[in-house]
Amino acid sequence: MVVGSRREGNSYHLANIIKERLGTNRISADVITPGNQRIYLCTGCMDCDQKGVCDFKDDMEDNIAKIKDAEVIIFISPTRWNTLSGDLKIFMDRLNPLYSTKGLKDKKFISLVIGSKKRNEYSLDGTMTSITSFIEACEGKLIYKDYFDECLTFTDILKCPEHIERVCDNIISILE
Ligand SMILES: Cc1cc2nc3c(=O)[nH]c(=O)nc-3n(C[C@H](O)[C@H](O)[C@H](O)COP(=O)(O)O)c2cc1C
Repeated sequence: MVVGSRREGNSYHLANIIKERLGTNRISADVITPGNQRIYLCTGCMDCDQKGVCDFKDDMEDNIAKIKDAEVIIFISPTRWNTLSGDLKIFMDRLNPLYSTKGLKDKKFISLVIGSKKRNEYSLDGTMTSITSFIEACEGKLIYKDYFDECLTFTDILKCPEHIERVCDNIISILE
């Protein structure tokens, strides 16, 4: 799971609940929170297109190894200005070393987006579209997506346990 918010808020709580539920079903999961890691911004040098690796030595070395190994990648992003979080975009940009080698081709992805606005205000759609566009660009496969609306303060998401349960059940049944 790659969590697009660095605070211990809705994305954090959702990731931890999913991790726990997956664990009880013997599915192991790691949570990566790029905002709390040491990750340099992509300079766009494009060296990785030739070499397949980035010149920067930082937490992305370990992250890329985990991404390569993972059977499924779950992105969890808060909505920020109708689009995905900056932390997640920085992470995605630094996955470019996998582009030239098609390292994400056919990789399975799940996208879960969170926002404070109501679903019918379409603000969360921009977040979903930006994530699914990334998946399309890397030729990955979106296997599941969902939205958590009306979540503003740190723990709002915990007010909808049935929705979280449903998402966990759906993810587990897809993975099994
Ligand atoms: C800079 C910023 C921009 C935001 N823009 C939106 C927005 O466009 N639409 C929306 O529904 N919520 C927006 N929000 C609210 C967050 O999506 C919401 O608080 C979410 O629950 C935060 O997730 P977190 O607790 O995991 O950080 C914004 C929050 C911030 C900090």
